[in-house]
Amino acid sequence: MSDHSPRRSDAASIGQMLPPSFVVGTATAAAQIEGATRAGRRTASVWDRFSAEPGRIQDGTTTAVTADHVHRYREDVALMAELGVDAYRFSLGWTRLQPEGRGPLDPEGVAFYDRLLDELHAAGISPFVTLTHWDLPAEYAQGWLDRDTAARLGDLAALVGERFADRVDHWITLNEPATVTLNGYALDLHAPGGALTFDALPAVHHQLLGHGLATQALRAAGADSVGITNVHSPVQPAGDGEEDALMAGLFDLVHNRIFADPILLGHYPEVPDQLQELFGAFAAVPEADLATIAQPLDFFGLNYYMPTKVAAGAGTGHSPDGTSEAMAGLPFRLEPFAGYPTTGFGWPIAPEYFGVALSEMQQRYGDVLPPVYITENGASFAEEPGVTGRVQDTDRIDYLGSHLSTALAAVAPGGEAEGIDLRGYFVWSLLDNWEWAAGFTQRFGIVHVDFETGARTPKASFQWLHDVMRARRMA
Ligand code: NOJ
Repeated sequence: MSDHSPRRSDAASIGQMLPPSFVVGTATAAAQIEGATRAGRRTASVWDRFSAEPGRIQDGTTTAVTADHVHRYREDVALMAELGVDAYRFSLGWTRLQPEGRGPLDPEGVAFYDRLLDELHAAGISPFVTLTHWDLPAEYAQGWLDRDTAARLGDLAALVGERFADRVDHWITLNEPATVTLNGYALDLHAPGGALTFDALPAVHHQLLGHGLATQALRAAGADSVGITNVHSPVQPAGDGEEDALMAGLFDLVHNRIFADPILLGHYPEVPDQLQELFGAFAAVPEADLATIAQPLDFFGLNYYMPTKVAAGAGTGHSPDGTSEAMAGLPFRLEPFAGYPTTGFGWPIAPEYFGVALSEMQQRYGDVLPPVYITENGASFAEEPGVTGRVQDTDRIDYLGSHLSTALAAVAPGGEAEGIDLRGYFVWSLLDNWEWAAGFTQRFGIVHVDFETGARTPKASFQWLHDVMRARRMA
C-alpha cells in the first residue's frame, strides 16, 4: 500500500522543500477549456468532429463550450495570480490560429493569444506553450498517419514562433505522442478514431518528425527554450512468467521508449526477435529523419499519472481510457494494480512509481537527459461543491502532495533518481475541464467549474497550492 500519511501533503513542509528557482505551475489544453469553436474563421479540429459523432464521448458532450476560457481567460489568469504560481502551461488551438491548417495566421486567433500572453505577463506568470495538444485540423484527413502532417507542424511552428517568441519563455512541440498513437490511431478511443493496432506505428514516426521540424522552426524564429512532453508509465509484468515479461517489455517499448529513445538517443529501441513481426519494417526510417528528431533539447517534459500492469494474452483488458474492440487484437492486456486506492478514472494512486518513472529516465538516458519539467501530474475525482459551496478535495491534496514530495525526494542527493535536473512541476489541471472521451465525467481541476454557467469556484486544493507557494516564499 502506498503511504498516505497527511505529513506527505503538508503544504508548509512541501513549500520548504522546493528549491527557490523551481517552477511551479498549472496546466491546461485548448480543446479542453477554450470553447468558442465557431468563432471567426476557426475551422473544425479532429476533436470537434470526433466529439460530434454519436457514442464517442461518454456523456455525449462536445468541445463547443467546455470551460468557456476564450471568454473567461482574464478570470483564469487572475486565479493563477491569486495562487501565486510561477508558470502556466497551455496549448494553442491550431485551427483558431491557422484555419484549415495551412496558410497565414488568422488575425482574430492571434489577437486572442496576444491578449492571453499580455495578461500572463502583467501577472508575472511565465508561459509554457504547447504548439498542439491533440487538436489537429480536421482537414488533415489522415492525421499523423500522413508524413505531410509533420511538415504542417513545422510550418505552424515557424509562424507562431515569429509571432510570439518574444513573449513565450518555453515551447513544447507536442503533448503525449504515446497517448495520441495508442488511443487515437491504434485503439479507437480518441480522435481521429483509428483501430489500427500495430499499423498505427507510422503515427509515431510522423509525430517525432513533426517535433524535430517544429524544434528547428522555433529555434530559427528565436525561441529560447524548446522541449517536448510525453507521458511515462513504469510497466510491471502481471506475473512471473516469461510471456508476461515479454509483453510488459512490449508495452514499455510502445508507450515509453519508442518516443524517448529516438529523441534522446537518436535511434529507435531494439525490438526483441519474438516481436519483430508486429513492427514489420517500422524502424527502417531514413537516417536524416533520425537526425531531425534527435536535436538537442532545452528540456524534456514528463507527464506522470500512474504505473501500468501488463499480462500476456489478448483480451478486452481495460485501457486507462476505456475499452474498444480493437483491444482484442492486441497480444497483451492491462491489469488492475491491486492494493492501491484509485482515482475517479480508476487509476491506481501509487506515488512511489513516480520515483520509479524518474529513475528509469535517469538510468536510460543519464548524461544526455536535458533538464526535466513535470509538465502534468494530477487526479480526477467525482466531486461537487458541498453545503459550504466549496469542494473539499482532500483526495486531490493527498495525491498532489504525495506525488510532488516523492519527485523531489527522488531527485535529491541519495534519491533513486539523483542526477536528474528537475526544474519544475505543473498541476493538471487549473480548471475542471473537458476530459476527452470521458467528457465532463472526470474533474481534474483545483478550481471547480459549473459547466452550465461557467462559474469558477476554487477547491480546497487551490488553497493548498496557494499555501505551498507561500511557504516557499517564506522559506
Ligand atoms: C494527459 C493529457 O495531456 C491531458 O490532456 C489529460 O486531460 C490528462 N492526461 C488526464 O487524462
